[in-house]
Amino acid sequence: MTMYKARAYSAASETAPLVSTTISRREVTEHDVQIQILFCGICHSDLHQVRNEWREVMPTVYPCVPGHEIVGRVVKTGPAVTKFKPGDLAAVGCMVDSDGTCPECEAGLEQFCPNMTLTYNSRDKHLGGVTYGGYSDSIVVNERFVLRVPENLDLAGAAPLLCAGITTYSPMRHWGVTKGKKVGVVGLGGLGHMAVKFAHALGAHTVVFTTSPGKKEDALRLGADEVVISRDANAMAKHTGSFDFILDAVAAEHDINTYIQLLRRDGNITMVGAPSKPLPVSVFALIFGRRSFSGSPIGGVGETQEMLDFCGQHNITADVEVIPIQKVNEAYDRLLRSDVKYRFSIDMASLKAE
Ligand SMILES: NC(=O)c1ccc[n+]([C@@H]2O[C@H](COP(=O)([O-])OP(=O)(O)OC[C@H]3O[C@@H](n4cnc5c(N)ncnc54)[C@H](OP(=O)(O)O)[C@@H]3O)[C@@H](O)[C@H]2O)c1
Ligand SMILES: [Zn+2]
Ligand SMILES: [Zn+2]
Repeated sequence: MTMYKARAYSAASETAPLVSTTISRREVTEHDVQIQILFCGICHSDLHQVRNEWREVMPTVYPCVPGHEIVGRVVKTGPAVTKFKPGDLAAVGCMVDSDGTCPECEAGLEQFCPNMTLTYNSRDKHLGGVTYGGYSDSIVVNERFVLRVPENLDLAGAAPLLCAGITTYSPMRHWGVTKGKKVGVVGLGGLGHMAVKFAHALGAHTVVFTTSPGKKEDALRLGADEVVISRDANAMAKHTGSFDFILDAVAAEHDINTYIQLLRRDGNITMVGAPSKPLPVSVFALIFGRRSFSGSPIGGVGETQEMLDFCGQHNITADVEVIPIQKVNEAYDRLLRSDVKYRFSIDMASLKAE
């Protein structure tokens, strides 16, 4: 297999900072698209993975090149590629391959394929070792997993749609978020702020639960109808038994049972936040009210394209702070302090300048 060198930022261990390096990428094969990466969002999952916080479920293989919110331009295509040509805008999310033949793939739910390849820290079928993500100047991906970016979207703000966007859009569609429904969003971070934009655009009555009183004005501007400071027990109690659906996008341990109480009969709370430790769940709170508690991972390729097109129509992008890649370690520290409004987007031109 022929390869070329790409520039990237990688971590050598769970305690090491991300540093500049070069990695090998495969030259395009039959169905591949080579993309020059323009922007890559910083997802909290990148931080969990780089620091090996998910060691029990998906241990990190080092060196680790994270990044799965990728937007760029096609520079090269394999001979069999039909969807893209050089110069096209293109995007890549959390997956770069799947078997394409299992029932999940046939249903367009590649995120559940037992042989799915994640954009980073998955076995690389072509080169051996693990896949390397979007903190890099280029990436090569099978065209089946390359998305189209609506031309009207700001590219720095579009990058986070590839994970934060689809991860919140998919469960909202699955659980029927629409006009007339009361929807809660827990945690106004990268995922949470996208959830607010989608719930609002889908016509739901949208309530944000935040631990940060300083985010109240932003939440309203982003489309929330109400904001509740979740540490205020009285304010929480006012919403008991009233929600059709709650999306929980919190990255740390927290009390889930207070939110279960807020669901109405048959209401659902879905976790997209992925704290590394198990959460205690009150079964009685589920039984009384026939409520359900579930989780949801990203979304399929088809639904990701649907979400991007929806964003194109409604002019939805993430609110981003654009940073040069040299600031990535500082950005991780700030992410841990919830000090970003509301997603970091790395300008990959900064990598070239090194
Ligand atoms: N399921 C999936 O497929 C999927 C995909 C992507 C990401 N994720 C996971 O989703 C989570 C969120 O990711 P993100 O990138 O949106 O992270 P983020 O930007 O750091 O946002 C997380 C938010 O959670 C709230 N929060 C933080 N610490 C808290 C605490 N101790 N108690 C209560 N609330 C707290 C904060 O919101 P407030 O300040 O408003 O309280 C914070 O902004 C991560 O665990 C990530 O790995 C899952
Ligand atoms: Zn992510
Ligand atoms: Zn499959």
